[in-house]
Amino acid sequence: MPQFYVTTPIYYVNDVPHIGHLYTTTVADVVARMRRLHGADVFFLTGTDEHAAKVVDAAKERGLGTGEWADRNAAAFQSCFAEFGIQNDDFVRTSQERHKVKVAEYVSRLLASGDVYLGDYEGWYDAGQEEYVPDTKARELDYRSPINKKPLVRKREQNFFFKLASYAAQLTELIETGQLSIQPVGRKQEVLARIRDGLKDVPISRTSVDAGSEWGIAVPGHEQHTIYVWIDALFNYLSIVDTPERRRYWPADVHLVGKDILWFHAVIWPALLLALRKLPGCEWMGPPRSIHAHAFWIREGEKMSKSMGNFVDIEELRRYTAEFGLDALRYYLITQGPLGAADADFARQRFIEAYNGDLANTLGNGFSRVSNMINRYFAGQVPPPATAFPALQAAAAEHVARAGEHGAALRLDAMVGSAFELLRAVDGFIQETEPFKLAKQPEQLSQVGSILYHAAEAIRIASVLLAPVMPRSMAALWQRLGLAEMAAELDRSPEALSRGGVERWLRWGQLPVGSPVQQGDPLFPRFKSAS
Ligand code: MSP
Repeated sequence: MPQFYVTTPIYYVNDVPHIGHLYTTTVADVVARMRRLHGADVFFLTGTDEHAAKVVDAAKERGLGTGEWADRNAAAFQSCFAEFGIQNDDFVRTSQERHKVKVAEYVSRLLASGDVYLGDYEGWYDAGQEEYVPDTKARELDYRSPINKKPLVRKREQNFFFKLASYAAQLTELIETGQLSIQPVGRKQEVLARIRDGLKDVPISRTSVDAGSEWGIAVPGHEQHTIYVWIDALFNYLSIVDTPERRRYWPADVHLVGKDILWFHAVIWPALLLALRKLPGCEWMGPPRSIHAHAFWIREGEKMSKSMGNFVDIEELRRYTAEFGLDALRYYLITQGPLGAADADFARQRFIEAYNGDLANTLGNGFSRVSNMINRYFAGQVPPPATAFPALQAAAAEHVARAGEHGAALRLDAMVGSAFELLRAVDGFIQETEPFKLAKQPEQLSQVGSILYHAAEAIRIASVLLAPVMPRSMAALWQRLGLAEMAAELDRSPEALSRGGVERWLRWGQLPVGSPVQQGDPLFPRFKSAS
């Protein structure tokens, strides 16, 4: 059984989660569920990045201990993810011993390897992003953070440096050959161009973070140095699977990240792994297979920021789930979100259009129509397919194949699109074959039954394709089709699922004749605006 390892960035705990965090984590959740559906042994990791100076500062502002503040926010991330249906396999906190011990071990190995040396740093630092900024770039930015516009800080300190510059050729080759795939392709070109411009060695420790505090991970043997928070954080992807039971998941198949943190993931992180991989016992620690950098959510055309106070926060997202259901929110995030190179606008009007057009109409009404006819003409039991309709069957197979390809390439909107094309094909099939007219002639009843079997089976297949995005509503749909067995199999714990292999549910003919079909409230009631 193939392994699949997907990660999200780990999130700073200086504050509570917002749409950006939930978005990436939801994308990862959909990818994980989709891979499980295709029979992979999946490991999905998310978590929190706790040793940033801004976490220390935020705690101080509130008169709390750093650990206390981190605990609170880490709990907020965990409960947010649970509330929004995320099924991660583990949740890493960088303040956990299991992570700290491993990071100290990796850094001490690098110290001994000759890839790390002690030097002096003088230059600019973006405290909000916890990022060193080269002089030329600082000038271009007018000495302000491109993200929060706050002034860059001048730093002068003694640091341990990692010999990043010596990995330029190896990194270029990895990326150009696609051994390390960077998506979208425009971002890959940006990364390659920046490597061509020249790589400088990078600091991996700091002396000025929170001197004298226990926060952070000390450089082994040099306790006055704290491991730079980005290095500490990147290692989470490795530390959490660096156990005998989990090593099989390495290397990560995809690191999902935002475009602002691609450089760390596409350049610094693989180079660290290339350095580690040379060391005895670390040969397995190769670079990840792919990194996908999404763009940003904006709001009604405006950039979202704390200072503007226009962030879509969890409260607001919760109002959407209360009004439309969690799966409708997931559907919106996945199909309208900034997974590619372009930013995406979070706008209520677009949400309602997608909800009414796709979910209430195409999916919800399409399903109601078929289940109502099965109830009316066949006493609520799936009729036998006496006649075959090979065209619809072929369309189903084709859309399943396409959805699989789109999903594997992380084109999640296109994956969902394939399922909807299948639903529209069912709609066209019903328009064409007119079972509601044929049903008026008793001798045509068997033909009506065949039509409805095909329609219901094609909808069932589309629903399986949609299940990674909308697990709860699709399970509700299966219950109504009397498919308790399928619902149970697809909803099992990841461990059980990984043993099962559930791909068969994507094949034609799994809907049993005689299955009891229930009518009920619409799966996605049409939204009528008050105005
Ligand atoms: N702690 C680092 C990541 C370390 S990974 C080894 C970090 N944390 S963060 O909490 O600031 O941000 C995490 C993610 O949120 C980033 O991927 C960032 O791109 C994303 N987003 C922040 N604002 C966003 C939007 N407006 N829209 C979408 N994602 C956004 O960076």
